[in-house]
Amino acid sequence: MRVLAVTANKGGVGKSTLAFQVAAELARRGLRVLAVDADKQADLTRYARGPRLAGMGLDAVLADPPASLDPRPYIGPVSDNLDLLGSSPRLADADPVLHSAEGPLLIQRCLAVVADVYDWAVVDTGHSEPIIAAVLVAADQLLMPTTASAPDARHAGDMLQTAVRVREQLGLETAELLQRSLITIWRRQHNGVADAEVIANLQERFGDLVCPVVIPHSSRISEANDQRLTVREHAEMFGTARDRPLRAAVDAYEAITDHVLARAGVVAGDPSGPRLLEEVDFEEPDLARVASAIRRVKARRGLDDDELAEVLGRSVDWVRHTLAFGTRYPEGEDRLTIRPRSRVAVRELADPWPPRWRP
Ligand SMILES: Nc1ncnc2c1ncn2[C@@H]1O[C@H](COP(=O)(O)OP(=O)(O)OP(=O)(O)O)[C@@H](O)[C@H]1O
Ligand SMILES: [Mg+2]
Repeated sequence: MRVLAVTANKGGVGKSTLAFQVAAELARRGLRVLAVDADKQADLTRYARGPRLAGMGLDAVLADPPASLDPRPYIGPVSDNLDLLGSSPRLADADPVLHSAEGPLLIQRCLAVVADVYDWAVVDTGHSEPIIAAVLVAADQLLMPTTASAPDARHAGDMLQTAVRVREQLGLETAELLQRSLITIWRRQHNGVADAEVIANLQERFGDLVCPVVIPHSSRISEANDQRLTVREHAEMFGTARDRPLRAAVDAYEAITDHVLARAGVVAGDPSGPRLLEEVDFEEPDLARVASAIRRVKARRGLDDDELAEVLGRSVDWVRHTLAFGTRYPEGEDRLTIRPRSRVAVRELADPWPPRWRP
């Protein structure tokens, strides 16, 4: 069984949606899939029509003290080839257990019990640090969604850093894990210049880690979630041939699943693994470039800040903040360069003239 962990440092970037869609797409390909909700918010459980009730899912498996760690009594069917180990708000009670010395290994042990029954476990993680750590230990691959906004993209590298730290502490390999992992981008605007800049930036920084399929923004995806359907089911039941946003969403999740499968096939010992690890650059994206792009749009179209915010689908505060960044760090200027002091200041500092009162 392969364990795919869907995880991100940021909230609301589409983790649970992605976990559900990819789990369903894997199952559609005839693979036996267990969707695991490791978030106390239990959104995946909701999307997959599971019971968000205490004692019916992972919260029961990890109850204090963890009993047998056997998840089987709590697994229920979702659709052909797809089962669910759900969650509930009571999963928060498991944090002390996960903080214990054995804690980081508990999810791995729990999944090992069903390793022969499924081809894939797709785990949605929330924001509990000990749970994220335990999922990172169990994972064979990471799927890390981000939106195409600069502040969110800045967090994209954080999860990689956490994964490296947690696994190295336990002496687990990391290079292969990263080699198989993917960052997916949810593009929130159709015409966002800033989005395009951020995507280009992510690709520049993370190279191969960035999945070339960009998830479109579509209200149809939220509709599907609200109806407890996959976007494919939603398209089959309610879509029309001309419903392009819906088709685009179905295609995106299908293509991401292809990429996940392709990454799973990356063989151990591939020499590009360690190289990739060295190449991962944890620096923040270049906000100055985003700022200069939106300054150009502003100037060309003669927009004020409010209009620019409207065009970009952003808050006015974000626009002002980003523009201000660009002013403080004008295009082309190296932010780490220390500017020479002005001539007056230099003269004062060097004080080349002897004090007049000296003989
Ligand atoms: N591509 C998309 N287009 C439009 N809406 C989306 C898209 N993906 C997710 N959403 C909606 O955005 C919201 C957040 O999505 P989701 O629950 O998947 O995020 P999350 O990262 O799991 O959030 P959390 O951090 O709270 O767990 C939901 O209402 C969902 O329906
Ligand atoms: Mg979620």
